[in-house]
Amino acid sequence: MKISYQSGFGNTFSTEAVKGALPIGQNSPQKTPRGLYPEVLSGTAFTVPRAENLSSWLYKLRPSAMHAPYRRLAQGLVRSGPFDEVDTPPNRLRWNPLPVPAKATDFIDGLVTLAGSGDAGSQSGIAVHIYRANRSMKDRFFTNADGELMFMPQQGAIELFTELGRLEVAPGEVAVVPRGVKFQVRIEGPARGYLCENYGAPFRLPELGPIGSQGLAQKRDFLAPVAAFEDRSGSFQVVAKFLGGLWASELRHSPLDVVAWHGNYAPYKYDLARFMAINTVSFDHADPSIFTVLSSPSGQPGVANCDFVIFPPRWMVAEHTFRPPWFHRNMMSELMGLVHGAYDAKAGGFLPGGISIHNCMSAHGPDLASYDKASSVQLAPHKLDNTLAFMWESRYAFRPTKAALAAKQLQKNYDKVWDGFK
Ligand SMILES: [Fe+2]
Repeated sequence: MKISYQSGFGNTFSTEAVKGALPIGQNSPQKTPRGLYPEVLSGTAFTVPRAENLSSWLYKLRPSAMHAPYRRLAQGLVRSGPFDEVDTPPNRLRWNPLPVPAKATDFIDGLVTLAGSGDAGSQSGIAVHIYRANRSMKDRFFTNADGELMFMPQQGAIELFTELGRLEVAPGEVAVVPRGVKFQVRIEGPARGYLCENYGAPFRLPELGPIGSQGLAQKRDFLAPVAAFEDRSGSFQVVAKFLGGLWASELRHSPLDVVAWHGNYAPYKYDLARFMAINTVSFDHADPSIFTVLSSPSGQPGVANCDFVIFPPRWMVAEHTFRPPWFHRNMMSELMGLVHGAYDAKAGGFLPGGISIHNCMSAHGPDLASYDKASSVQLAPHKLDNTLAFMWESRYAFRPTKAALAAKQLQKNYDKVWDGFK
């Protein structure tokens, strides 16, 4: 079945899977069309400024409140802030891809937390997980009170069947499921990807300043789902992440029973190939902030809880310039991943599905091979193609989990890539 979408970022959408299910001119009439239960889902405090206010009215087969008590589940490899299991070293860290398990594993089973900062309870910081699955979630559902979830598929497409509708998300696309929205991850083959759990303010488009009204990610290229529901009875489980813990509750019906909804609090996806990259047409570099797709502000102007930044295919035209990123030590901390291809500041070792962390003030930049090549190559306009690297950058240092530091995929000799400069 082909999936339909509605386009726009932060729009107030109106959508119904059954004609006439959406009340007109009123949110909560005494009697709703078709006897559905109205329920509001608010993603921000009621009184935040209008431009940041997020909420939707859902019209459901049954109220969400109709469920059994939650009981604690085993945590697996999911971790949350405060990330204090082990000391965080000031070292540069890099991992090879974590394999998709051979045994039956769905999205929840295969989650492993790599690193994070802050803490869900104080609504600051982020956590970065890897998801690895080889089967769909069938009779269970996931929801996260701790933050919104940004999916970056790296291997295999996924379908996110959320309360507000369905999104198909392939490598090269990104999708966000808001805090508190129940969903299933359905797959047709092995799937792996990066997952950013944002405890802070919801991601939004960056301001464009002197760039003007066009450029970077454009509002119309963001796609929200249309209403879709299932009326399914049986034995179901909702797994909720709340203050770091995983909790389960049993239901006699599928919670994906929203027949119609309207509002601006909804999942969305975005094809990263639509990103209009902007950079120098003379010499030197702009800061990588020029590649910001979405940003979660921290409260201090210009200082992100998390910036989502991509390094897409693009022309390199700078004259008499070292074109890859030069050596740097930054206040902001960087966690990078690679969806496919190669990254221009590393000759090898940073693999699709791999991860690197360069925390606050850690020295990094081109490896020796990339330095040798980029500092002596004859410069001509050159297309960087077949590449999609990305970064989640934060004011808070990434603190790796115990499992991440013990993983055999952690490269023991990463520092050596900067050995041998004359
Ligand atoms: Fe960097």
